[in-house]
Amino acid sequence: MVIPHGIRTLGVLGAGQMGLGIAYVATLRAKVPVVLCDKSPEQVDRGLKLFDKLLAKDVSKGKIQDVDAKEARDRLTVVSKEKGIAGLRDVDMVIEAASENLTLKQSLFKSLAAELRPNAILASNTSSISITKIAASAIHQDHSSASEMGKLSASRVVGLHFFNPVPVMKLVELISALQTSPDTLERARAFALACGKEVTQSQDVPGFVSNALLMPFINEAIMCLEKGVATRDDIDKTLKLGMNHPMGPLQLADFIGLDTCLAIQQTLYQGTGDSKYRPSILLERMVDAQWYGKKNGKGFYDYE
Ligand code: CAA
Repeated sequence: MVIPHGIRTLGVLGAGQMGLGIAYVATLRAKVPVVLCDKSPEQVDRGLKLFDKLLAKDVSKGKIQDVDAKEARDRLTVVSKEKGIAGLRDVDMVIEAASENLTLKQSLFKSLAAELRPNAILASNTSSISITKIAASAIHQDHSSASEMGKLSASRVVGLHFFNPVPVMKLVELISALQTSPDTLERARAFALACGKEVTQSQDVPGFVSNALLMPFINEAIMCLEKGVATRDDIDKTLKLGMNHPMGPLQLADFIGLDTCLAIQQTLYQGTGDSKYRPSILLERMVDAQWYGKKNGKGFYDYE
């Protein structure tokens, strides 16, 4: 059977909540085998527990059958810490879901370019970092950037931005780097569709469409709190009840992660030089205090 994306095995790099969510929709909806890779065995354990919990929840709600859950679980394998990225060598596509840090992503893509087959797609789930910059690092060290092989390496890099929680949110944002080939773009789009998502396309600008709009909104809410315009609860209630948002902006910031919000806002501010993207001091201080939101128990709200 011809599959439009041609992905017979997917690699997921990063076993955090985004990586596991991607593995979840890929194994369950696109029905492709997934190889999961993370440098931290503890993170992998946490991720696998989350994966099993999500499957069990969907079975108990009658959304999927036991057999679907078992097949999805059987499609997921983990690369050992010792093998690392080399364990992804045979996959047809990797989706990187590591932290929002350009230097880290450039180093990962350099290794991926060296390890994977030349026609394998290298996708990043970054929510704001330039795909063009990431693609420029995805060149095998044996090839000069001006060579044909160098161009080929970069042309297989693409942005595939999923939203949290991945099993629930219907969208994937597709971003083309300057170097991305039309074939890479269309195969990545077909893969996102196979995962049951709708796709929008954005140019490679800081934050793409989603975060160029969302982050100033969240930041403005934090500044309202900072200036004492309203209480935390009233700010969130205004947006929930007045505009039918599922979460208020402060709760959403906690949900995304305050460290992630700050990293995205810094990318937006540095990438555009526009003061409308400058992160609020309160957000910076909360991240200084290591209050990262829901993920570690304290943000604008307290969590168990
Ligand atoms: N993983 C999987 N499923 C989840 C989940 C999770 N973490 N959290 C909730 N769900 C599921 C529930 O199981 C439930 O499923 P059913 O309808 O089948 O029963 C459904 O979502 C609704 O959940 P709840 O009833 O428990 O709670 P809710 O109605 O308050 O919805 C929510 C929870 C879906 C998270 C909702 O509050 C929401 O949509 N919030 C906004 C999320 C959002 O904006 N995400 C994007 C953030 S930005 C981003 O990710 C990218 C970026 O670049 C920063």
